[in-house]
Amino acid sequence: MSLVSPEFEKLVGKLHKENLRLFPHLDSRKNCIVNQLQNEIKKFSKNDALNVLKQYSIFSNEAIHMLLDATIRNHNWKSLQNEIIHNIQEELGSMTLEIPHLELMRQGYREELLFDPDKVEPWSSTKAFLSTMKSIFRNDDNSFSAGALYSFEYNAILEFHIVEKIFLFIVGDEYIKSKSLLYYYIRGHKEFEINHSEEILNSMKDFFLHYDKEQFAKFEHGFFIVSSSINKWWLDLEYELNRNKYFQFEIDIPDLKKSIF
Ligand SMILES: [Fe+2]
Ligand SMILES: [Fe+2]
Repeated sequence: MSLVSPEFEKLVGKLHKENLRLFPHLDSRKNCIVNQLQNEIKKFSKNDALNVLKQYSIFSNEAIHMLLDATIRNHNWKSLQNEIIHNIQEELGSMTLEIPHLELMRQGYREELLFDPDKVEPWSSTKAFLSTMKSIFRNDDNSFSAGALYSFEYNAILEFHIVEKIFLFIVGDEYIKSKSLLYYYIRGHKEFEINHSEEILNSMKDFFLHYDKEQFAKFEHGFFIVSSSINKWWLDLEYELNRNKYFQFEIDIPDLKKSIF
């Protein structure tokens, strides 16, 4: 049994407590997109919700690469690296008849929502989000990465609750959930991610046995920067969705070159 530092436990408790206070859009009950789908004015249609889910599918495709980037750069924290590799193996199908999760997801999207996730164009909010996330996981500071990785798994649980609500809004209540590959994917992850989050935290506890101000601060920063990026992405998606709906015109930028030469 590994020892646990009381200071580290205290820090993790604080992060859990602060997470939704600082970043309310990670909470499926307060998320801006879910709220727009559920409120009486029904500002967003099923098609809007589908467009958001399409953007989300791009993030799902990228997530495994982010994990891989982090393991390559943080290889000297062995127990943490092994845990991430374990999660990657699960992504590759160790628990799902050797079928990668992304393949389940792709097939589900194609058959049930009639779009090909490999052909979705990212909105500018998604491009910005992915580039931030990639740079977060491409660094070799172990403490910062540990915080970011823990946040990634911890927030994934919350994220699947949001995705479930968006999905159910699109397909409607009468949808036969028991036959849906996408629903199986979402439900499965709501469970999977709880284990991921607990196990990844266990795998890093040994590196935080003794209080070190700088190391603990980096862990906290890594945790919150991921939460903040996901929170911001939801807000930006909402903004972009509205903008695309109500402002369907191209801005005519004058061609200065033509007027000069
Ligand atoms: Fe997965
Ligand atoms: Fe996970």
